[in-house]
Amino acid sequence: MFLQILLIFILYIVVNFIQKNRKSSSNEPPSAFSIEWPLVGSLFRLGIRPHQTLTKWAEKSGPIFKFYMGDYKTVCVSDPQMIREIWHINMDNFHDVPAIPTMRVVSGDFSNIAMAREYRWRRNRNLCANTFSKMNLKTTSPPVLNNQCKLLMKYIDKIYESGSLFKVQEFMKRYSVNIILEVVFSSKMDYEDKRLDKLIQLTNQNFVNNQTGNIMDVVSILQPFYYIWIKYITGVPVDGLKAYMNELLQEHKKDLNPEKPRDLYDQIILDYGDEDVEGILRLGVDLYLTGVEAGAVAMEWVLLYVTNYPEIQQKVYEELKKVLADDVDDSDNNGMINLKHRINCPYTLAVIKEVMRVAPAAVFGLPRIAKEDVEIGGYTVTKGTQVMMNLHSTHHDKRFYEDPYVFDPNRWLFEDDNNRKANNMAFLPYGVGPRSCIGQHLSNDFMFIGISNILLNYNLTSPNGQNHLIDDTPIFGLTVRSKPFSVKLEKR
Ligand code: HEM
Repeated sequence: MFLQILLIFILYIVVNFIQKNRKSSSNEPPSAFSIEWPLVGSLFRLGIRPHQTLTKWAEKSGPIFKFYMGDYKTVCVSDPQMIREIWHINMDNFHDVPAIPTMRVVSGDFSNIAMAREYRWRRNRNLCANTFSKMNLKTTSPPVLNNQCKLLMKYIDKIYESGSLFKVQEFMKRYSVNIILEVVFSSKMDYEDKRLDKLIQLTNQNFVNNQTGNIMDVVSILQPFYYIWIKYITGVPVDGLKAYMNELLQEHKKDLNPEKPRDLYDQIILDYGDEDVEGILRLGVDLYLTGVEAGAVAMEWVLLYVTNYPEIQQKVYEELKKVLADDVDDSDNNGMINLKHRINCPYTLAVIKEVMRVAPAAVFGLPRIAKEDVEIGGYTVTKGTQVMMNLHSTHHDKRFYEDPYVFDPNRWLFEDDNNRKANNMAFLPYGVGPRSCIGQHLSNDFMFIGISNILLNYNLTSPNGQNHLIDDTPIFGLTVRSKPFSVKLEKR
């Protein structure tokens, strides 16, 4: 019996090896490696910072290439035009995410929004997009953002007065959690509220799993065991957030007025009715997680970079100070920067943009599976192939950026003939096409307000002196984060 099982296993490995290393179409993208290993493929070659590894592979193999992630034939794309061909022009062919156990369990069998199958996605996307535009974020969110920013500044002031170091991650998370809670769920929490700590803990747990590193997710023969393990035995961190969404659901239902929905969650509850409570909770969790994490991470990177580049930080401060001084009609601002000042802050915006270029938080977006064979960049991407974009590579492509590894906000300040800010088709931090980020405007708004008010009021320095820069080695997970770091606050 044992011998038979061993023989079957050896046969499986041999077939698996042959399948991975034969060409299924003469016109497939070039392979990154001449040999792909049975079961694991090139998974072990990705290392702990796969986005940087894949950028190196792109330098060798070109802006579209093929490799195996476990049993998944994967095409990695970094050319912006090819990214558009997949995620925009041919999106109908690429709606599905790979059915790996983690995504299946986290998304509730693909019933949220970011990982949803096409039918469910259309319903959820329309619902959210219509509500965002009905809520007219341009008029309703500024008071929310201003108040949230005041709360953030109140607690940063407290830190300053206590003489402690400013733990950047902790505060950026509190700020973004509260904004999403208020905009989507009309809920908010004081920074000292213990429930907020719990919520942040749950949020963090959802982002520690390595997006590409889990062998159990990508090796076919292990998948069923892993699925049972995480679904029925260990559970996933998202379950804790679902319970919280259920609390919010019960609260919302108490005084729900169909004529006057208060927020996005009310709209979702009205649209779904009692027909699919699970669907409401899944969508709630997804909006919460996608909203909170990337925005907080992007702000952390901005604060890290301005601390490491004091002369850039000083220029931002001078711009913000001048903008406020020039605002003679500042009666309602209490000396704070708000959205109406943004148009006069090109340098501050350029700094934020440059940080999102060098350190895109959602570096791979979400991988997708080809429904049918399709031509991309002159190559055939065959049915069943997983495609992924690598924005780290796109954002460091020499064809689009001079000295791409130099941090230089000035690159965004050139003016073209129409006197508009220079743009770059290879800048895609929010993805592209029908499934690009739904919260792009909201996060641009809250990042600008949060960052500019911190830098208007405080000079941030490295706690170990200016000769000891903050470590900018990224940590790869579902987002690409900085290591936890603290800065010294000096009042401006
Ligand atoms: C700096 C902040 C943010 C960044 C860098 C970011 C980035 C991204 C990226 C790259 C995608 C995937 C695109 C793809 O795979 O094609 C995405 C999708 C998404 N984002 Fe964001 N995001 C941010 C903030 C937000 C916020 C504040 C919200 C919520 C209110 C949000 C909600 C979503 C949703 C729901 C999706 C899935 C869209 C779909 O599949 O239709 N994001 N985001």
